[in-house]
Amino acid sequence: MEYTEVLVNDLDNEIIPEIMKYGAPTLEDYNDVTSIATRLAKELNADIDAVILGAKFMHSKLGEAISQKKWGEHTNMALGFALSFFQNYPINESIKNKVLTCIKEHREKTFTCREAEICANANCYRYLIPKKILKMFYNLKSQGYNFEEILFIAQEKIEQKWNSLTLDICKKELESNYYKIKEFLELCKRENNLE
Ligand SMILES: [Fe+2]
Repeated sequence: MEYTEVLVNDLDNEIIPEIMKYGAPTLEDYNDVTSIATRLAKELNADIDAVILGAKFMHSKLGEAISQKKWGEHTNMALGFALSFFQNYPINESIKNKVLTCIKEHREKTFTCREAEICANANCYRYLIPKKILKMFYNLKSQGYNFEEILFIAQEKIEQKWNSLTLDICKKELESNYYKIKEFLELCKRENNLE
């Protein structure tokens, strides 16, 4: 097994139980965003190992932060987790720094390395895919949100994620989805006289 695979394996063993315990993010999003980030890293000739690790770490500690009502802290918590995780593994400093940057900048719009930009853009796919929006409705309903609230959150998320995309390749891939989902949500709103 390649060294990164060992790391990824050990990391999954830490993060997946956390996802199961707190229910955030969904396991599907954790896996899907990592696959999208990996594909983008290949297409854009970025450091694949750093992108895979960065995409996984940026999802860590999210559920725990939400459960403590400290959502805004999840990036710092993930950084702390990554630093302590790396203490147990000798890892190339340049990959390690890129991974830490991926975590730090995963909600930014300007980036200090290509790998961080890839992780942040891949994260936007969580809301710009029709299936994911429907699943979001389903998940939020089970958390007690009502229809109007979920509709509002969905609209907010698609705007936020669309406006966060910086890579042309991602804008191209998601543009038609964005306009279709946007129109669909607006129709729902109008039908329910929510405007
Ligand atoms: Fe995040």
